[in-house]
Amino acid sequence: MSLQSALSPLVSAAIEAALGPEHAGADPVLRPSQFADIQANAALALAKRAGRPPRDVAAAIVEHLAADGVLAQVEISGPGFINLTLDDAWIGNRVSAMSADERLGVPRQETQTVPIDYSAPNVAKEMHVGHLRTTVVGDALARTLEHLGHHVIRQNHIGDWGTPFGMLIEHLLEVGEDSDEARLLETDPNAFYQAARGRFESDEDFATRSRSRVVALQAGDAETLRLWTGLVELSTHYFNRIYGTLGVTLTDADLAGESTYNDDLAAICAELEAAGIATMSEGALCVFLEGYTGREGRPVPLIIRKSDGGYGYGTTDLATVRHRVRDLVADRILYVVGAPQSLHLNMVWDTARLAGWLPESVEVVHVQIGNVLGEDRKILRTRSGAPLRLMALLEEAVATARAVIDEARPDLPEETRATIAPQIGIGAVKYADLSVAHDSEYVFDLSRMVSLTGNTGPYLQYAAARVRSIFRTAGVGPEQARGRIVVTEPAERELALELIEFGEVVAQVGAALEPHRLCGYLFQVAQAFSAFYENCPVLKAEDPAVRESRLALCAVTLDVLVTGLGLLGIEAPEEM
Ligand code: ARG
Repeated sequence: MSLQSALSPLVSAAIEAALGPEHAGADPVLRPSQFADIQANAALALAKRAGRPPRDVAAAIVEHLAADGVLAQVEISGPGFINLTLDDAWIGNRVSAMSADERLGVPRQETQTVPIDYSAPNVAKEMHVGHLRTTVVGDALARTLEHLGHHVIRQNHIGDWGTPFGMLIEHLLEVGEDSDEARLLETDPNAFYQAARGRFESDEDFATRSRSRVVALQAGDAETLRLWTGLVELSTHYFNRIYGTLGVTLTDADLAGESTYNDDLAAICAELEAAGIATMSEGALCVFLEGYTGREGRPVPLIIRKSDGGYGYGTTDLATVRHRVRDLVADRILYVVGAPQSLHLNMVWDTARLAGWLPESVEVVHVQIGNVLGEDRKILRTRSGAPLRLMALLEEAVATARAVIDEARPDLPEETRATIAPQIGIGAVKYADLSVAHDSEYVFDLSRMVSLTGNTGPYLQYAAARVRSIFRTAGVGPEQARGRIVVTEPAERELALELIEFGEVVAQVGAALEPHRLCGYLFQVAQAFSAFYENCPVLKAEDPAVRESRLALCAVTLDVLVTGLGLLGIEAPEEM
């Protein structure tokens, strides 16, 4: 239980008792304070309404504050702030309760069904760092919401349909389905794509064949579909290798690409046209929505059927909404997608609302993903300006982590260093993606990400490993350290106060869909632990009861760090 949720009802009750029933449930306006554990600022606003001096109102509230067993000290300060200092015993009881609770105070919420659209790379194209970020953020949200008790349905909306597939299939036929060139799809998809593109641009015959191949594909020609399936499969192997390296939870069962909606598209257009929501404009079927205007106030259409009869990205996305509401029975739908697609998604949702496919009771959220930049503050690319190969980037991260660990821990056996380097390197990359607000951009800087100091993944992993080493030295497992926790020293108190916030923070991440809050919180826990460890001897504590209490506090710290990192999809190495 967090400070907010413990103190809020207490102060609210005091307000009501002091000022009368019309103030029942008044917000105590709790704020962190330098001078106490927390400060209640409600008296200022209440004083205005009551026409009494704020300090008087504060005094009246304090008089009715049933602080027994919770608060050690209550003080009025400044114009009418109420400074609240918690009782050490209360804090000790709260962390002790966490130590006995396998959920660590994380609530189990009423289950909602939540489809999450994330990752969504494109077949026969390189996954870029933008896809990396939607993959990492989406996966952290999926893990967190599941942990809170929700029914998460992962939807990997891969780009597996559209006009380029004519050219890609023709190229596959030319190089041979079992050739090394075809295998490029599994290792360097861009190289395959570029080669196909090159053929398309330089050979008129090839281009003509490609165009009729698209027609055959759309008409459901069996042989063409077989070739297309092969192409998608090879690409999926590539995605799966990346997912495996990253340790994300997506599997083939979560694939729900653009092509899965093919059979819905004609009906979607027909229904929208019949309802008068879509109209023909210059040969294309379009939806014109209020409030979407471009330059010179010209309305921006959502094109749902092009003049050549083809369907586009907007049509398939309308199908995603309808499917997720109607078939998946969603309560809340998340689209973890690049920020620039905001206009597109909003037009899709507005259209779906008009059509009755997206009732007001279903919440839909665009979890906007900001750009990942290079040191030149432009979209991250290789030195030669080519788009980055994601696998190469991940390999570099692991190699950099390996160098860091070789330097920091040459005493660890080679085998151990080989095991933890990927945990650290990948953890570093993921943490960098997660620790900034998902909608802001950031500069990709490997050497900063893998640093053992600062707000980095490795710093948190290191904190957890340090706690583990205490237990190794003690010769007991953390699961055995479940004694009563008594806090007395300031550093102990600070650490315990951080730890008891865990459940509330996880709930907030689930509500606001902001994993960076969990990152910031875990960073504070790690810092508080470090201060505790410096100031409070654990194994060397003279009093056995103190030693036991501190070991138990270490165990809760470890649980919070490991569980918290786990919700972010980051491993916690045994040793570092
Ligand atoms: N494949 C798209 C891209 O690479 C992302 C798809 C996102 N999801 C969606 N339902 N539109 O940009």
